[in-house]
Amino acid sequence: MQNIKQYVEQNKQRFLDELFDLLRFPSVSADPKYKPDVLETADYVAKKLSDAGADKVEVCQTAGYPIVYGEKIVDAAKPTVLVYGHYDVQPPDPLELWKTPPFEPTVRDGKIYARGACDDKGQFYMHVKAFELMMQNGGLPCNIKFMIEGEEEVGSSNLEIFVKENKQRLKADVVLISDTSMISMEHPSLETGLRGLSYLEVEVTGPNRDLHSGVYGGAVANPATILAKMIASLHDENNHITIPGFYDDVIDLTPDERNAINDAPYNEAEYMTDLGVDELWGEKGYTTFERTGTRPTLEVNGIWGGYIGEGAKTVLPSKASAKISMRLVPNQHSDKIRDLFTAHFEKIAPKSVKVKVTPHHGGEPVVTPTDSVAYQAAQKAITESFGKAPIPTRGGGSIPIVALFEAELGIKTVLMGFGLDSDALHSPNEKYDIYNYYKGIETIPLFHKYFAELSGS
Ligand code: BES
Ligand code: MN
Ligand code: MN
Repeated sequence: MQNIKQYVEQNKQRFLDELFDLLRFPSVSADPKYKPDVLETADYVAKKLSDAGADKVEVCQTAGYPIVYGEKIVDAAKPTVLVYGHYDVQPPDPLELWKTPPFEPTVRDGKIYARGACDDKGQFYMHVKAFELMMQNGGLPCNIKFMIEGEEEVGSSNLEIFVKENKQRLKADVVLISDTSMISMEHPSLETGLRGLSYLEVEVTGPNRDLHSGVYGGAVANPATILAKMIASLHDENNHITIPGFYDDVIDLTPDERNAINDAPYNEAEYMTDLGVDELWGEKGYTTFERTGTRPTLEVNGIWGGYIGEGAKTVLPSKASAKISMRLVPNQHSDKIRDLFTAHFEKIAPKSVKVKVTPHHGGEPVVTPTDSVAYQAAQKAITESFGKAPIPTRGGGSIPIVALFEAELGIKTVLMGFGLDSDALHSPNEKYDIYNYYKGIETIPLFHKYFAELSGS
């Protein structure tokens, strides 16, 4: 441990500079205008993996953005850790809300502000630097494989083919991912589950053209009003989702499981202050952690229609649209939920409008084991580096490839994230604490050490 700390201390500034270089690439996968930048980012990641000592580094082409692969096999008898991360980021919009530009990383108050600082560049890069550290500092306790993709934020749609075509290359004993949150630095935690996702877009069309809202208003259904009503009806007065069959496959947690989740430290007042809200909202009968970690939800991610420019325009729009996504919990299936939503949304539409539902991406929920050697290794690593045992939590976010790795490769994942929910992922002023970055680089080698030890090699 002393050697680890020493190596981090001696290389602190370079570790930070390299992360800053990575953060300067605007690798926004959702917007084609950033394509050259996304491709350059993949090359940078590949170079950094090579520099750190990885063999067989390859920028693997897919139908979309490339997947960066690299490995170091030290001994076939040792266990193999497959590190997954993503070098793409969410769009930085709305730009005007950033205090400093999203792709010019800036330190304020010990925190790095930049798009991707936490999600996921700051987090996956810890693994690259921890790998360098192990190579320079006594060698690797386990074999290591890296798979860093560029389409996570847009649904990883080309990853499945890659995984299916590269089963042998990706063979490993565990997948290790840092792309989730901890409760806080005082309360280290390990996420033991992720929700699935079913994402759709709906369009409601009324008259064949935009109309004068005085001449026609009151006589013709306004698609914006109809859409608002339809969306509002998707939750009942207890904030349960009203889509028939939606909860059919949800498995209720046992009282013990619920207690464990509710044992995690949580300060409701702080939670509300951080978000600037006076009241929390959610499904009746469940606590905040249960709502975000163990219950399915439905959210409107965007809604538009009619005139949204400067000033006023008296128009009755011919169309209104929304992007809607549902987070799913274990035993729910994204395809089934997509179909249930579509059927219900079409059914509740009044005759005055036409509805078109277009599915986007989906992903399956997962629960990761807490009785595995790999989980125990993560527990030991965190306990040693934080001086406290990690609390198991269920994450509200989604990383669809976790279920895919399990289904295609039969490998389970350990979610060892070092971010915080308050790091403003996907929001303006995303940040990552420099402390967490170094702490992660210190903790990861311990995971490898204990995983090797506990695996009996
Ligand atoms: N890293 C996040 C997921 C996450 C964040 C999990 C915090 C747990 C805690 C990931 O990059 C992400 O944003 N995933 C998307 C899903 C994807 C299919 C677009 C999400 O959760 O919305
Ligand atoms: Mn992420
Ligand atoms: Mn993300």
